[in-house]
Amino acid sequence: MGFDRVLTRNVGKPDSRKIDTYLAGGGYSAARKAVTSTPDEVVKIVSDSGLRGRGGAGFPTGKKWSFIPKNDTGQKFLCCNADESEPGTFKDRVLLEHDPHLLIDGMIVSAYAIQATRAFIYIRGEMHAAAKILEGAVAEAYARGFLGKKIFGSAFDLDITVYRGAGAYICGEETGLIESLEGKRGWPRIKPPFPAIKGLFGRPTVVNNVETLCCVPPILERGASWFASIGTPNNTGPKLYCVSGHVNRPGVYELPLGTPMMELLDQYAGGIWKGRTLKAVIPGGSSAAVLTAPECQALPLDFDSCGKAHTMLGSAGVIVMDDHTCMVDAALNVMRFYAHESCGQCTPCREGTTWVAKILNRDVHGQGLETDPDLLLDVCRNIEGRAICPLADGAVAPVASIIRKFRSEFDHHVKHKSCDLGKAAVA
Ligand SMILES: Cc1cc2nc3c(=O)[nH]c(=O)nc-3n(C[C@H](O)[C@H](O)[C@H](O)COP(=O)(O)O)c2cc1C
Ligand code: SF4
Repeated sequence: MGFDRVLTRNVGKPDSRKIDTYLAGGGYSAARKAVTSTPDEVVKIVSDSGLRGRGGAGFPTGKKWSFIPKNDTGQKFLCCNADESEPGTFKDRVLLEHDPHLLIDGMIVSAYAIQATRAFIYIRGEMHAAAKILEGAVAEAYARGFLGKKIFGSAFDLDITVYRGAGAYICGEETGLIESLEGKRGWPRIKPPFPAIKGLFGRPTVVNNVETLCCVPPILERGASWFASIGTPNNTGPKLYCVSGHVNRPGVYELPLGTPMMELLDQYAGGIWKGRTLKAVIPGGSSAAVLTAPECQALPLDFDSCGKAHTMLGSAGVIVMDDHTCMVDAALNVMRFYAHESCGQCTPCREGTTWVAKILNRDVHGQGLETDPDLLLDVCRNIEGRAICPLADGAVAPVASIIRKFRSEFDHHVKHKSCDLGKAAVA
């Protein structure tokens, strides 16, 4: 437990969200340093650090920034994705509520790197407290001259606006977010063109996650090689892991990328609750494939290792299920969410998620058919890869993996019209 916290270093300090607290810890030195460097130098240091996006896909941040066309002198935008709606994910909220100036510092550096003079923080509608805190922090930064015209005495201008969403999961998908910011329904766009070429109001745009942007100031303060020395090769830096479900101490834990799953669960999250045993884990927010307890044993929690285990680190929302969990019910729980949140543009996603939820519902309630597991897998196959955005694949991954890895529970539900765990069917 000897890791010095980087992203959450101010969490727990009195008045951690105030600008004076942030400045007292050396805050805004990253932004000052950035505006006296060239944008290319800033992109290079972030590329050299190996930082990969913390929003879900793990895309290299410096590389994303380098896609912004350099010969285009018109308006460019930076959008901070603070929508955080993935089930099991609650890390960005900690940063927003406890250290909003770390985010603003990171946004100044990132906006400068891509030469965006307008930036938005798109925050999830339900996060009332965080939105108020952010608005206060942005006002403090303007009052000190850290935002607005010619910031830190440089030639660079930057305005940041806090924009509140209305609580739709799909507005966390970057092009759904952009549509919503433009005042339209949050319907994802077909890519290409990617936002770096044609984003907000048709202009070059970078969308980055809150945690990604909060990694940027420490990289400028302490250097690319320091950041790259944390974690595992190709998976560098500190990471916020959200642990929820059947553990003794659920919460957000900051650890190096690549921390072994069982170390996170046993040493930090206090082990499985009520003296029970581990049954399964969804490691990356509900859009990731499930892992059985044996698959968790030697797994480092980083992007590449999770990929090799046929799941994903995603948003690092580690959802833990003990041996009393009905996996058919777990599959229904997850699919109900996606059926509700599908934006409805694509037929396979809109209809498929709804039908899978309906079939799972009859299975849970003891009215399933012997053919249901195969039927469910068939419907899943017809959703996957046949839709505009990754919500559809994210809906299929947990459910299809639960059916494949816990099929005997489905068969038991059909045969006995009740749960494997002896619960009576609610027919
Ligand atoms: C359905 C869906 C929901 C998403 N929700 C979020 C979210 O709440 N926050 C987030 O940062 N990224 C979310 N993403 C990923 C974004 O599309 C995008 O990849 C991310 O904001 C990029 O930031 P990064 O490069 O810093 O990781 C979501 C993606 C999908 C498909
Ligand atoms: S995949 Fe689903 S959520 Fe994504 S655009 Fe299509 S219908 Fe909407």
